[in-house]
Amino acid sequence: MNVGNQHYRSIWFDEQSSQVKIIDQRWLPHQFLVVDLDNLDAFVAAIGDMWVRGAPLIGATAAYGIYVQMIDNPSNKSLEQTCDLLLATRPTAVNLRWALGEMRTLLTPLPDHERAKAALARARQICEQDVECNRMIGVHGVELIKKIAATKSHGEAVNILTHCNAGWLATVDWGTATSPLYHAVQQNIDVHVYVDETRPRNQGAHLTAWELAQQDISHQLIVDNAGGHLMQHGAIDLVITGTDRTTGSGDVCNKIGTYLKALAAHDNNIPFYVALPSTTIDWTLSDGIAQIPIEERDPLEVTKVWRKLNDGEVAQVQICPDNTPVANPAFDVTPARLVTGLITERGVCDASTQGLAQLFPECAKD
Ligand code: MRU
Repeated sequence: MNVGNQHYRSIWFDEQSSQVKIIDQRWLPHQFLVVDLDNLDAFVAAIGDMWVRGAPLIGATAAYGIYVQMIDNPSNKSLEQTCDLLLATRPTAVNLRWALGEMRTLLTPLPDHERAKAALARARQICEQDVECNRMIGVHGVELIKKIAATKSHGEAVNILTHCNAGWLATVDWGTATSPLYHAVQQNIDVHVYVDETRPRNQGAHLTAWELAQQDISHQLIVDNAGGHLMQHGAIDLVITGTDRTTGSGDVCNKIGTYLKALAAHDNNIPFYVALPSTTIDWTLSDGIAQIPIEERDPLEVTKVWRKLNDGEVAQVQICPDNTPVANPAFDVTPARLVTGLITERGVCDASTQGLAQLFPECAKD
């Protein structure tokens, strides 16, 4: 997607310098910073400390991390240790496990001297695959928006609420939840997006609002607690979120707070869709609440927020008494019964074992 007039992806291999480059998302929206990841420690920090984040992007970054480590040390021991190290960086998003599994399966049978080259090719392919999946999510998802637009009078926008950042910065390009929006705009359908700020890290305020502004898409930032009220007053036609891991039975794990939006949508009879590439489906699980590991993150994310001060300086400020005890679960699970449908690269399906099996018969458990 565009930043100013220039097209960017969230991660790329720069041919000229032979470096893996990322947008360091910690500083957005106030500073747009591109950095090189040139050793394994940098990759571990980039994923763990959320220089990059979002399930698909975490997977793509880990794949490049394997490539960079294979240049330094392509031995079996190094491959195994690197996979373990990267896997431990973030426990919830299953794309990480998927991408590392792909790399391990490809590289293990190869002689050491062939591993780096093969790893680079596969990491690039994983990125291309992600871009294409997300594009197709938009192709399918826009049909839902079109149906709602057809019920509106001329000039009236379709109002869509989204949570966290499931935009292009969370993927390699397009985003998942945002891809249908971009397709709608390309087809001249008016959309207006309500952007949940998404405490504690404010991915909605920092990233989604910035992304939408860059593409000139109508939007308003709202506090996390405003969604229910807006739904009660008819301000929202549709909710689309992303997901970090969806079970084979359709339970959706996503950024903390998603469940409350699904409950409010259910109570107000508003369609609640989840957009995802199939790499986010964990076919081994059938009960999201019981089985998906929920990442507990640093208390500092809750006690401190980033603020742009009146003089333009960006600073972190504390919002509670010193030493306040904190719980910081980063994700929650929305049971399949609250999900109207899943928007995947192969089409839209019910959030259920049967629905997913129809679209992905080769993956579904017998
Ligand atoms: O903690 P984050 O910022 O990595 O969480 C990201 C989300 O929860 C996204 O909604 C999810 O990964 C889907 S991204 C296409």
